[in-house]
Amino acid sequence: MSAFLEAIGLTRRHRDGDAVQVAVDDVSLAIARGELVALAGPSGSGKSTLLGMLGGILTPSEGDVRIAGESIVAMREHHRTAHRRAHVGIVLQGLALVPAMSVLENVLLPLVPFGGARRDDLERARALLRRLSLHEKERAPARQLSGGERQRAAIARALVTRPSALLLDEPTAHLDAESASVVLDVLAELARDDHAVLVATHDPRILTRPEVSRVLHLERGRLVEP
Ligand SMILES: Nc1ncnc2c1ncn2[C@@H]1O[C@H](COP(=O)(O)OP(=O)(O)OP(=O)(O)O)[C@@H](O)[C@H]1O
Ligand SMILES: [Mg+2]
Repeated sequence: MSAFLEAIGLTRRHRDGDAVQVAVDDVSLAIARGELVALAGPSGSGKSTLLGMLGGILTPSEGDVRIAGESIVAMREHHRTAHRRAHVGIVLQGLALVPAMSVLENVLLPLVPFGGARRDDLERARALLRRLSLHEKERAPARQLSGGERQRAAIARALVTRPSALLLDEPTAHLDAESASVVLDVLAELARDDHAVLVATHDPRILTRPEVSRVLHLERGRLVEP
């Protein structure tokens, strides 16, 4: 299995006055298509920072990220953005749905840089919403959604461009058992369907699922053996 998503010696430091804080410290990992990998670790251990660098939205202080065999760190910004959009779907911890737009409009938003939604995009968006039990809310403005519904809308949005890799930050944080299970089923299905899936979480409902291929443990910015 060749890696689709790779971190090579990834490090991110933050300057805090005179002190330098290392949020992610020399992390290397590789995720192949077909894998559902969990990234566990206590609050503040660097999970979101690592995901941000892997997704090309945070610049590493050191190290490299390869997506689909190409190093994104050396790319010019517009090329990096295009490469990320083409290959990676991201669900951030603070979900940024546009409150005044409907659920369906939010889901279709990532297609704008690709020239907008075509008929088959619209069908796929609706199928995703159905899969995530959100189809009845398709026309509702995002501001009317519950926390769990927002989470599921953000997942549908990350999938609408058909990325081969998906990065999710605490995707089940606001979900009850039933919705969490639906989300996990979707992630497992994506992995079976040859996607590379990385999910940052401390949710035992994810960490104990048999479909999870591996659990990586982050502590103070470093990968450690559990
Ligand atoms: N922009 C920033 N400036 C300074 N420090 C930061 C910045 N972003 C993150 N950090 C610090 O980096 C460390 C890792 O943060 P990160 O958000 O990656 O942790 P996390 O594992 O995702 O935590 P949680 O489980 O609470 O989401 C924390 O100590 C945090 O305070
Ligand atoms: Mg986090």
